[in-house]
This record gives sequence, structure tokens and C-alpha cells, in this order.
Amino acid sequence: MQTQLFHMDQMEEAAALIRAGHCVAFQTETVYGLGADASQEDAVKKIYEAKGRPSDNPLIVHVSSVDQARELSAAWPKTAEQLVQAFWPGPITLILPVKEGVLADVVTAGLDTVGLRFPATEAAQKLIQLAGCPIAAPSANSSGKPSPTTADHVYHDLQGKIAGIVDTGPATVGVESTIIDLTAKAMPVILRPGGLSREDIQAVIGPVAVSTSQVADDQTPIAPGMKYKHYSPDELVYIVDAPIDEWGHWMSHFQERGEKVGVLADQAVLNRWGKEAVAQFSLGDEGDEISASSRLFEGLRFFAETPATVILAQAYDLKGLGAAYMNRLEKAAGQKYLR
Ligand code: TXA
Ligand code: MG
Repeated sequence: MQTQLFHMDQMEEAAALIRAGHCVAFQTETVYGLGADASQEDAVKKIYEAKGRPSDNPLIVHVSSVDQARELSAAWPKTAEQLVQAFWPGPITLILPVKEGVLADVVTAGLDTVGLRFPATEAAQKLIQLAGCPIAAPSANSSGKPSPTTADHVYHDLQGKIAGIVDTGPATVGVESTIIDLTAKAMPVILRPGGLSREDIQAVIGPVAVSTSQVADDQTPIAPGMKYKHYSPDELVYIVDAPIDEWGHWMSHFQERGEKVGVLADQAVLNRWGKEAVAQFSLGDEGDEISASSRLFEGLRFFAETPATVILAQAYDLKGLGAAYMNRLEKAAGQKYLR
């Protein structure tokens, strides 16, 4: 299949592909999504095929208005109304009871709930409006690889496997949406930390729990006990949770074993140790977890074009978007810490 490239002024052509049951990648504020008409079973199946993603994992449904979200859900609790008033369009996905018969079964993977999201980019909103249907979309990467924050990332992973990509510039938040389950009886539960912080959510609806299970993950384990492979570049990734002085020790540790070390860290660490690495990628100013979240996935992809065999990546505090950054980095690193 030839993958067609579009820009903002060709959105109607991209929308026509969606209506015809094909997959098109598009920019949201979090990451690029791989979209298909959420009411067409065969169209949605193409998403799973293109990504190589297990189809027992449900997809988020994207809408271009609050009313459209209400039409897809069987209940609309007060917390949903408060959250959408405060944060939509924006990087938060609500898990709500699904209305029967409006979405293809494969979207919800047989669950009686659905993840609903109103993305903030003009590109996403226009595509949904012109297509005239809710759009199911996971991140537009090959399953297991870092999520795409540019159209180039999508092209690299999925060219020849999808009908189109609309290139309208980079995704600025850089980590996927925060997923919050509003169907739980006791209190809302964050299933996946993401582009909107727990602190911001709690300021609007009060206390929320955070799930420690892996349900909101991109891949289901193939066998019990099997490790998740997620957000993983080909290089081995280690998380450095140590003072700046100790980076040199860990770099030598790997260099003595014949590895070529790449460093993914803030500017302070790079200024001090960058020249001893074979490649370096800046996450931004020291202590800026917003910048780190926005650059993480691009950074994880960057080292493929360099001689690096090992990536040492910096740990951040869990405050604000630091929780999402560390969640994705821990998966990329398979929990391997150096301290
Ligand atoms: O920012 C984002 O959320 C991006 C952009 C494209 O919008 N999308 C995204 O989708 O990250 P995806 O499919 O990679 O991750 C969605 C996760 C799935 O792994 C799934 O486990 C969870 O959301 N999910 C979807 N529906 C669910 C449901 N009804 N109950 C629990 N989890 C659900
Ligand atoms: Mg994903």
C-alpha cells in the first residue's frame, strides 16, 4: 500500500479515506494517533494489523465536541462534566460506560466501557468533523516502539501499512493522555498517568486513586510473567537515579564493557558529561519535567541514528508531568535502574 502524505489544507482527502474505512495518522497535542472510523469493524481491525497490536486491548475514541462524547456514553457522572469543563479539549481520556450499538465491538475489546477523548489540535478536530464519525486511535507507532511525536516517526514505523499521514507539525505535550476511570465506585482511578497531572485533576474533582496495575498498557503480556516490551528502542535503556557526580561512574562502567554510551538527560548533566558520550539528547533545562515529557519519545528514537548501544536516561521527580515521564521511561527501560 502507498502511504499518502497530507497537510492541513488536504484534510478533506484524509477524511474521505477515513470514511472509506482506511487508517490515517494525525497530530494530537499528545502524540500522533492512528485513526479509523470507530463505527466500522473492518476499519478498526486495520489499526491493529498496521501496528501489530494485540486486539484484546481497547482503543481510545476521539471526538470533536462534548456533545459527541455524551452520545457515545451510557452515563455522564458529575465528575465527567467537571473534568470536561475544566480540561477539554485536552490531554485527558475518560473511561465511561459505553452506549450499546454505537461503536464497533473491536474498539472496546468487548468491555462495557469506552475511553473518550477530545483532542486539542485543530488537525484532529477538523479530521473528526470532516469524517463525520468518532475516530478510534491508538498512538501511531509499531507496537512496542516509542510513541510518535512527529509525522516522520509515523512514516518510519508504518509507511506502506497505512493509507495516509496528515503532517501538521510535532505533538507538543509528547506523552499520551492521562486515562481516568470514572466508573469505579469508590473514587475515580487514574489508569495511566499522562499529559494532564494528577495534581491538576484533583484540584477540580478532589482525591483520585492511581492504579498500579498494567491495564492501561499498549500491550497485553503474551504469557503470565512475561515482561512488557513497550516504548523500547533497540538500544538497552537504563535509568540513572543518581547525583550528577555519579554519572561518570556509570558511563565508565558500560564503556569498560565495550558498550557505546548515549546520554538522554537535562542540560546540566549534558554540560558536565556529554562530551564523554558517543551521542547526547537534551531533555531541556534542569528540573523542567514538562520539557522532559515533551522530548522523551523523540529522544528514545534519536539514538537509533547514532553508534550508541546503551542509553543512560535521567530520572525525574514524580511531581506534575514527571509521573508520566517516569511511567514511560520505566517501561522503555524495563525497570532497570542505576543508583
Ligand atoms: O494521548 C493519547 O491518549 C493517544 C492519542 C493518539 O490520543 N492515544 C493513545 O492510545 O495513547 P493507546 O491505544 O496507545 O492507549 C490507550 C489505552 C490502551 O492501552 C487501553 O488499555 C486503554 O487506553 N483503554 C482504552 N479503553 C479502555 C477501557 N474501556 N477501559 C480501560 N482502559 C482502556
Ligand atoms: Mg500507545
